Amino acid sequence: MKTHYPPGPKGLPLLGSVLDLRKDKLEFLTSIAKTYGDFVHFRVGPRHAYLLSRPECVHEILVEQPKKMPKERIHQMIVAPFFGNGVVTSNGEVHDRQRKMAQPAFQPRRLDGYCRVFVEQALQGINGWRSGGEYEIDTEMLRVTIQNVCLTLFNADASDIVPRAAAAMTNILGLLGTEYDISFPIPMWVPIEHNRRKREAIQELDAIVMKFAEDWRNSGQDRGDLLSMLMLAHGHGRGVTHDELRDYLIAMFSAGHETTAYSLVWAWIMLAQNPEVEAALWEELDRVLGGRPPTADDLPQLAYTHMIIKETLRLYPTGWMLFPRETTEDLVFGGYPIAKGSIIYVSPYVIHRDERYFPEPERFNPERFRGGAEKHLPRGAYIPFGLGPRVCMGQHFATMEAVLTLATVAQRYRVMLLEKGPLLASGKIALRPPPGVKVKVVARQTAAAVAA
Ligand code: HEM
Repeated sequence: MKTHYPPGPKGLPLLGSVLDLRKDKLEFLTSIAKTYGDFVHFRVGPRHAYLLSRPECVHEILVEQPKKMPKERIHQMIVAPFFGNGVVTSNGEVHDRQRKMAQPAFQPRRLDGYCRVFVEQALQGINGWRSGGEYEIDTEMLRVTIQNVCLTLFNADASDIVPRAAAAMTNILGLLGTEYDISFPIPMWVPIEHNRRKREAIQELDAIVMKFAEDWRNSGQDRGDLLSMLMLAHGHGRGVTHDELRDYLIAMFSAGHETTAYSLVWAWIMLAQNPEVEAALWEELDRVLGGRPPTADDLPQLAYTHMIIKETLRLYPTGWMLFPRETTEDLVFGGYPIAKGSIIYVSPYVIHRDERYFPEPERFNPERFRGGAEKHLPRGAYIPFGLGPRVCMGQHFATMEAVLTLATVAQRYRVMLLEKGPLLASGKIALRPPPGVKVKVVARQTAAAVAA
């Protein structure tokens, strides 16, 4: 294939842009998109890599030709010690089978049932709050979302394991994130401290999810949750290997809580920094709910709350960079030939900050989404959950969870930021707020309380 690369940074001989990726991947991808545009070429060591940001291309990669661009091998290898070959990372037939098996747990009827749990857990989360109290909002949100995913999908109460699980997740994603950024896998057998810590975090999380499976086996009951479906489909777990079961549970557990927790943290930060949005949110909550906790039936009326979540996911898409893809044959994008074996990066963070689709892109403005305005954007311009056959399985789960959690908490408390400096996102495997964002919470007078 005759080479003809789009513009991009030259990088260093042999290394290409590895050091820039290692230093700050979010900054690197954002700045090359700004400098070079929709089609950027760079090298990761000896390999050719592309950052593609034109919505039509994104649509083509994710929706029209996904089989020609599966998830990339080296990145799969890097996360394999943790994610195994679960639904998030697998390709082809294994992926199709795993995805099909989990689908019933995300049907609308089930999601409506989960809403009660989302509200109960948000209420439980703030039960221990006192007006004027100071908290770390990421810890608070993680507690809620870990409980939500465990109670709904595994019918398991996880209140005891939250700190352990959250710490182990932070460790493993941080350690793998370093390898992931530079596309360089460190095999588990290499006797270094990095691997010892990886092993420790993985063992901790394995023990947590396999305990759910063991508890299920002890009761053997169909509880109508994802774990029951999985176990019953495989002769009470006997027809599924230990590794398959473990990979499956780890995929759902890890994909299912951090992203939503951090999205909620960003939403609280945005609300605290945009008092006019906060006031409009309270107006909606007081008008629609009048002081009572929300239910699934209220969701259509909580339109502004939903717009806040959409705008938060625009500016801070926690899945900020889709799993890198790899071309399995020579392809052409934007007139540029892209050879088989190239790495393809697509970043919702980069695309969502493009002023052609989102005027004043840095401004937090939920009004952009009024009346479902995103439907009029080019396909591929707003992709917080990805698109196509690998679209996030939990997108409706997460959206309902985020809207109901925000509504339940904001109805009762004003969340004020105690942090003074800028709160910068860090783009590892997920887009993270700085750890331990401190807030002060102050009880609000709801419409019902005022009327009483
Ligand atoms: C706001 C919260 C969330 C965000 C922003 C988010 C984002 C994403 C994105 C962008 C992908 C696609 C990755 C790619 O194509 O490379 C994805 C995949 C996935 N997500 Fe989510 N997610 C969220 C919450 C959840 C929840 C709550 C669950 C489960 C309960 C979940 C389960 C999954 C699974 C299983 C996949 C893999 C799907 C596949 O490859 O077939 N996610 N998510």
